[in-house]
Amino acid sequence: MIEERGSLPGSSGSSGSSESDGDRIAPPPLAPGELLAPGYRVVGFLRRGRDLDVYDLWSEERTCRCVGKAVRPDRMARNNARSRLLREGKLLVKLTHPHIVRAYEVQSAPVPLVVLETLPGETLAHLIDRRQKRLSAEEVAHLGLHLCSAIGYLHRNTVLHLDLKPSNIIAAHGMAKVLDLSLARPPGPHRGGIGATGYMPPEQAQGGHLDTSSDVWGIGAVLYEAATREPACDVGDETSTTEARKIVCQPRPVRRARRLPAPLAAAIDVCLRADPVERPSIPELAMMLETTVREAMAQAASAEPAKSEHMGSPGA
Ligand SMILES: Nc1ncnc2c1ncn2[C@@H]1O[C@H](COP(=O)(O)OP(=O)(O)OP(=O)(O)O)[C@@H](O)[C@H]1O
Ligand SMILES: [Mg+2]
Repeated sequence: MIEERGSLPGSSGSSGSSESDGDRIAPPPLAPGELLAPGYRVVGFLRRGRDLDVYDLWSEERTCRCVGKAVRPDRMARNNARSRLLREGKLLVKLTHPHIVRAYEVQSAPVPLVVLETLPGETLAHLIDRRQKRLSAEEVAHLGLHLCSAIGYLHRNTVLHLDLKPSNIIAAHGMAKVLDLSLARPPGPHRGGIGATGYMPPEQAQGGHLDTSSDVWGIGAVLYEAATREPACDVGDETSTTEARKIVCQPRPVRRARRLPAPLAAAIDVCLRADPVERPSIPELAMMLETTVREAMAQAASAEPAKSEHMGSPGA
């Protein structure tokens, strides 16, 4: 969903970066009706991140709404910001998957811009905050299966996501979609602390070799929070310093935070093992989550035969 957010300059960037713009004053975002780029008119400003502005746009060519991620006017000189956004856009336009946001196009001038389909629904972060009731075990397992499907596809394209967190997932009508491939890269060595504080596996927080198991940890962290409404890692309020980003967290077993069916709790806990070799592969994780879904369906069928066709879903 398109969420109106507070837009304090530089207030939200949680991903690490080595460039600095000092105290430069950020110009305000564009107003509704202004052209962001040829053919793309601003419907509304959505949010300002560390390097990027996100807009609700009108595409004149397609005559439809879309979302634009553009480099902030005061960050144009940052090669990192430009190249990261263009890399994300080029990757997204090549990918076609029902659980990954679709990009319509990438422009490098006049402003580096990635144009995305507008996803209905709300971010998982928002959903977790808003809902009084926790997601059911079955809903959490469905969410996990969608993430396994999306991330498994990314991995088969030799790309790791490396920024899995509730605000990078949108859920609607039982469909979860993964966004924000700004940190995506091939497996390999990685300098520490590049990612979202509290959502990085130890090898990403501290620096080391990253591979598919690093995203398995990310899926585990998302499922932990979806199930319990608490982050897997409590890093306190200070999340943007280099030291905070390098904190290695060891989540406690999920069943200490909520009683869950044993197969689901085991699936979440094993994803969050500190040692990457102890984590399951994506297909192994998917099998564990399917067990939860099957058991929930069997239970529903025996308890309430009349309602057994009503399946819980992540965005419901
Ligand atoms: N295609 C989309 N449809 C609807 N909303 C979107 C879409 N893309 C992004 N958003 C909204 O904008 C927010 C920021 O998008 P995104 O995470 O891609 O940007 P970012 O600047 O890389 O974020 P951050 O660095 O804070 O993770 C999302 O959390 C979501 O609320
Ligand atoms: Mg994001």
